[in-house]
Parts: sequence; structure tokens; C-alpha cells
Amino acid sequence: MKLLHLDSSVLGPHSVSRQVSAAIVDRLRQATPSLDITYRDLTQTPLAHLSGSHLAAAQGAPAPAELGPDLAASAAALDEFLAADIVVIGAPMYNFTIPSQLKAWIDRILVVGKTFKYGAAGPEGLAGGKRVIVAISRGGYYGAETPYAAGEHLETYLRWVFGFMGITGVEFIPADGVQVGPDHREKSLAGALQAATSLRAA
Ligand SMILES: Cc1cc2nc3c(=O)[nH]c(=O)nc-3n(C[C@H](O)[C@H](O)[C@H](O)COP(=O)(O)O)c2cc1C
Repeated sequence: MKLLHLDSSVLGPHSVSRQVSAAIVDRLRQATPSLDITYRDLTQTPLAHLSGSHLAAAQGAPAPAELGPDLAASAAALDEFLAADIVVIGAPMYNFTIPSQLKAWIDRILVVGKTFKYGAAGPEGLAGGKRVIVAISRGGYYGAETPYAAGEHLETYLRWVFGFMGITGVEFIPADGVQVGPDHREKSLAGALQAATSLRAA
């Protein structure tokens, strides 16, 4: 069984989402030692933004030689995702949504004919059957009852993106309010780490 582990926080060892995503992977590895794990750090090895020449090549136009590494990086990211049975993502909230490094990865895996297609009844996901677990960390609180609920474009966005590819039941482990104060951060991180240890096995 293959697990793909992604991190996207720029805060290195100070990152909350990195600690929680690592705890998730540890929990799953302990429960299933035979897991075949691939790790991709989207900030250490960022994928480029999509370019016009990339999109043209993807539609069959002749690719200039200098586009080769970009096409290869794209294919590698897509192949890793397609091969994974489980995807674990560390996803901090930056400016109300995902980091641009994570968006660049999503731009490489949302590929028509590979992860979704347009059928007679509209878009259809082609990547169903994967288990996706996301460690999200947010500086504030965005619950439905809060004044900031309408600014939540992290969890809602990721749920939509994976749902579009046919992946339902995405599991989110949130650490919220980590910028409200040290006590909020400590309690929230402890709760998320505890939730990670309670995850169902792979
Ligand atoms: C560039 C940047 C933008 C941020 N934007 C928001 C935001 O819009 N809303 C929020 O609640 N917290 C925001 N935060 C706080 C982070 O969500 C919080 O620190 C979280 O722990 C980041 O995850 P990480 O520790 O894994 O990097 C921001 C932090 C940074 C560094």
C-alpha cells in the first residue's frame, strides 16, 4: 500500500501543520509497517507555476526543449498522486487559503483525462478510492458560528478539489487559533496530535 506525504508550510521546524502531518504518517506507519511512503516537500522542491507553453504541450503542441524538466516534474507529481492509496497533506492557512506551493502541486494533478473527465452528465472524478488526510493549521478560528466563517478557503477549497476528482470523505485534522496566543496554540496542537494518534489504521 502506497502513501504519499506532502508538506507545504514555509515555517520549517516551527510549522504546526508539519508536526501534525508527521504524526499522522507515524501513526499509519506504526499500524502498517509495510507502507511504501513517498515524501515530497513542496517548499524545498517547489513546482513551478503553470506556463502557457506547458499548457500548449499538454494539448499536443510541440514542446520546446527547455520545457523538458517542467514536463518531467509535472508527470512525476501526477504519477505519485495516481499511485498513492493514501495521501497525507500538511496544509497551513496563508491569506485565507492554501500556500501557493500547494496550489502549484494541485495545478499539476488536476489533469483532464487523468484525475477527472467531462462526461455526458458533466465533470466526473477519476481518482476515487484514495484516502486523503489533511493536517490544517490556522491562526484564527473559522467555525460556522464565527464572524470569519466566510473567509475560510482552506478546508472548503481542499474538500472541493478532492471531491472534484472523485475523492469523498477527506479527513481533516485541524489545529486552529494557533496565533491567538500561546495557550491556544499549545492546546490546539496537542488536540491535533492526539487526533492523529487516534486515526483508523491504513
Ligand atoms: C504568510 C502567512 C499568512 C497567514 N494568513 C493567515 C490567515 O489568513 N488566516 C489565519 O487564520 N492565519 C493565517 N496565518 C497564520 C497561520 O495559519 C498559522 O501560523 C499556521 O500555524 C500556519 O501553519 P504552519 O505553522 O504549518 O506554517 C498566516 C501565516 C503566515 C505565515
